[in-house]
Amino acid sequence: MDPSKLKEIENLRQEIQKHDNLYYVQDAPEISDREYDRLLQSLKDLESKYPELISPDSPTQRVGGKVAEKFQPVRHSSPMLSLDNTYSIEELRDFHNRMLKNLGSESSFSYVVELKIDGLGVTLQYKDGLFVQGATRGDGMTGEDITLNLKTIRSIPLQISVVDPRLSNLEVRGEVFMNLKGFQKLNDYRTEAGEPPFANPRNAAAGSLRLLDPKITAERPLDIFIYNVGLINPPLFLSHFEALKTLKSLGFKTNPHTRLCQNLDEVIEQVEIWQTQKHSLPYDVDGLVVKLDSIPNQNKLGSTNKHPRWAVAYKYETEKAITRINDIVCQVGRTGSITPVALLEPVALSGSTVKRATLHNLDEIRRKDIRIGDRVEIEKAGEIIPKVLRVVNEPGSSRKPEFQMPEKCPECSSDLVRPEGEVVLRCINVICPAQIKERLRHFASRKAMDIENLGPAVIDQLVESGRVKTISDLYTLTLEDLVPLERMAEKSAKNLLNGIEKSKKQELGRLLFALGIRHVGERAAALLAQTFFSIDKIMEMPEQELESIDEIGPKISESLIEFFKREGTLTEIQKLEQLGLNTSSKPQSVSEKLKGLQFVITGTLDGMSREEMKSKIHSLGGRVNSSVSKKTDYVVVGKDPGSKAKTAEKLGIPTLDQSGFSEMIEESK
Ligand code: IVH
Repeated sequence: MDPSKLKEIENLRQEIQKHDNLYYVQDAPEISDREYDRLLQSLKDLESKYPELISPDSPTQRVGGKVAEKFQPVRHSSPMLSLDNTYSIEELRDFHNRMLKNLGSESSFSYVVELKIDGLGVTLQYKDGLFVQGATRGDGMTGEDITLNLKTIRSIPLQISVVDPRLSNLEVRGEVFMNLKGFQKLNDYRTEAGEPPFANPRNAAAGSLRLLDPKITAERPLDIFIYNVGLINPPLFLSHFEALKTLKSLGFKTNPHTRLCQNLDEVIEQVEIWQTQKHSLPYDVDGLVVKLDSIPNQNKLGSTNKHPRWAVAYKYETEKAITRINDIVCQVGRTGSITPVALLEPVALSGSTVKRATLHNLDEIRRKDIRIGDRVEIEKAGEIIPKVLRVVNEPGSSRKPEFQMPEKCPECSSDLVRPEGEVVLRCINVICPAQIKERLRHFASRKAMDIENLGPAVIDQLVESGRVKTISDLYTLTLEDLVPLERMAEKSAKNLLNGIEKSKKQELGRLLFALGIRHVGERAAALLAQTFFSIDKIMEMPEQELESIDEIGPKISESLIEFFKREGTLTEIQKLEQLGLNTSSKPQSVSEKLKGLQFVITGTLDGMSREEMKSKIHSLGGRVNSSVSKKTDYVVVGKDPGSKAKTAEKLGIPTLDQSGFSEMIEESK
């Protein structure tokens, strides 16, 4: 092994870690996403060439590991306590008076005031600078080992520098949360897919952290703020505020709004500031935490069996408002899902004027018995759009009849259907203008084809005038089509055309995602592209073959098959191809030596994920199935194989170990 390779790999890792910190922790990226992806790809390439050099703290190792059956219990080194709550300035004064009484008035009473993030408390262990274990709070004494899920959170450093020997065993605690934007997107996606939405960002974060498959957790927009450091012996910090600063310099994400207050009055000032300011934060905060700054004094005070005596929470009430439902209308989503929305008498709530509330679906409306004309209590529990909590009509007031979902699409008047087993009503008319608009919006969006100047106003006009009915129509637009549009000068029309032209270069994975196939998210699209290299290939694949990709289950494969068989899909894809879009990624594999051979992979592979081996087999023309049958040609057996190896033996199917497989593909080059 060439030692310069190790150096190269280490440099790349450090470089990527630096940019992860700039992007995810400091919110101050220095390079473009594309440059970042290039760095990561170079590292992946090197690591697949030198698998023996893969280390657990490599940025390529954030998402991985097996799907767990359950989480293992972890006993906390010291209990994870909760905080005593206060709800008024008087109660805060009582807290301060207790400090005075117990520590004596000559002590310093500096307090650290932090935001109380509404998420989930977790603890992280670092050994010799490496993130080795993370756990939930659980009952305070014992939590659950969620290390693999925590590793997917980019703002958690996988490695820190041990600048002082006392940091070689470091425990930090913090709050995992989901920001409001991410939460809203996740719920929109779930509603669209007919899955129940999460009630609030906290539940969404909790649900995401407790998923047994870290790959799904990786797709959830989770983040963390570190708020405490565990006991360090011999002590390293005298001040909590200083400790937080050091944690920040080590690469941990700490909250930028934390303040050191010299006395109680300054604490009260913070309480007043955040009372109104908390609505402008991009995440949910349910109060403040006031902590005594002096760590020796914290230790002197200790804790009861429930709460530390040196800290207290100040809780704000969740704001609610009462208003009236003027109407209930139905919106049509990208895949035709119909969502009822309440139009409210405008009312001030949590710093903004609220006019609409989502009602999710008919089941929700019936459960809460919500009707047009009702007086309702609404709450903003994190969502940007608030929700209706309950009906609060005056007794004896007359009510309108129950709300009925429309039978026809409110946009195109075609019949609505409710697919079996789903709660969502859908419009299945593929040329429904509302759907076309939503589809185009998605197609042009940043994570899809990223067409910069194609905003909703332009899309609406293009669809309403009938000029654009399908995605491929976008690519035949001319200057003459665009200039007459409202607020469209020749220069912006040219920019738009350029943007559309440029988007032709987007890679296959993005195109697949942009097509807006139900359940096919960014990651599934990327995996499909990596595995099959062309839309034509994907189209040919039977369900079983699609599902041979680990993260692709029946929901996605059925949806793909339904999409490709739909009238018009094929012509549309052919058109896109003729127009010069990337309907395939790299040139088809140079070797087809594994053509027609069917493989099953079992056990853990060395230095290579099963996914990588699958792509390898696919790229050489072979197929991979998830279970062994008579049709299987070879079973590749890694470490700790499952029952598949036994089945192979029973059926007399040849097995290969990893080196056997390597030889086979070497030969087949
Ligand atoms: S300190 C021993 N600081 O609020 C003190 N907690 O009951 C432990 N929380 O479960 C907590 N933001 O998960 C602290 N800045 C912050 C916090 C915070 C949120 C959570 C924490 C705990 C609950 C308090």
